[in-house]
Amino acid sequence: MRKAYIAGNWKMNMTPSKGARFASELAKAAKEAGADVKMMVAPPFVTIPAVLEALKGTGIIVAAQNMNDHVSGAYTGEVSPEMLKDLGVETVILGHSERRSYYKESDEFINRKVLLAIEQGMDVVLCVGETLEEREGGKLEEVLTTQLTGDLKDVKPEDMKHITIAYEPVWAIGTGKTATPEDADSAHAFIRAKVAEMYSSDIAENLIIQYGGSVNASNVKALMAKENIDGALVGGASLSVEKFLPIITYDK
Ligand code: 13P
Repeated sequence: MRKAYIAGNWKMNMTPSKGARFASELAKAAKEAGADVKMMVAPPFVTIPAVLEALKGTGIIVAAQNMNDHVSGAYTGEVSPEMLKDLGVETVILGHSERRSYYKESDEFINRKVLLAIEQGMDVVLCVGETLEEREGGKLEEVLTTQLTGDLKDVKPEDMKHITIAYEPVWAIGTGKTATPEDADSAHAFIRAKVAEMYSSDIAENLIIQYGGSVNASNVKALMAKENIDGALVGGASLSVEKFLPIITYDK
């Protein structure tokens, strides 16, 4: 049985003081509502320490949105997995489409980060997904295959328990357009089958696959009802208690 895993990617929102205040309110509301999903928030780097402090003892995971592919060195402006771990951060989002498109991150580069994160004992939420042009051009499966095989290259079967996949169709991110539950489920099923082919059916069966792209209070139930959708990676709607609470309590 795969436990629902709901995550909030704050992107470049929330100063440390705002983030800490919001995190405390969210934890309180989640507890009062009896939320029992696996929960994660990913604040910007500088906001992480304040949020870690605010969420101590709540069981809510605090993740990073990115990291460098080196442990230390002359990489001005970058943050290493060692620094994150020293803070107490054990999960990192890698390969988000905003990083792929705005910062030109390649599958090869993402793969180096995935391997380093695993080597450092961290859990990874690996984002994959196609653009509208790719979908309309019939390239969905090809794109997902390239991303999965490229990003997970040399990841050992025993390390797959540290990997969560987030299927985030680029055209659904921040646009208010959500993939239909059927379309999302079929992409998830493809990802699961691909992982079964690359690893084993056991590993694929246990793999958590989140859907991301304009998830909100009104579409979360239908998405989560699908067989292959195990969670959500939420952007905009994770930035207020009012919008995020119904998502983390979708099953109530
Ligand atoms: P939105 O929920 O704002 O569409 O963002 C999704 C996303 O990119 C989460 O990583």
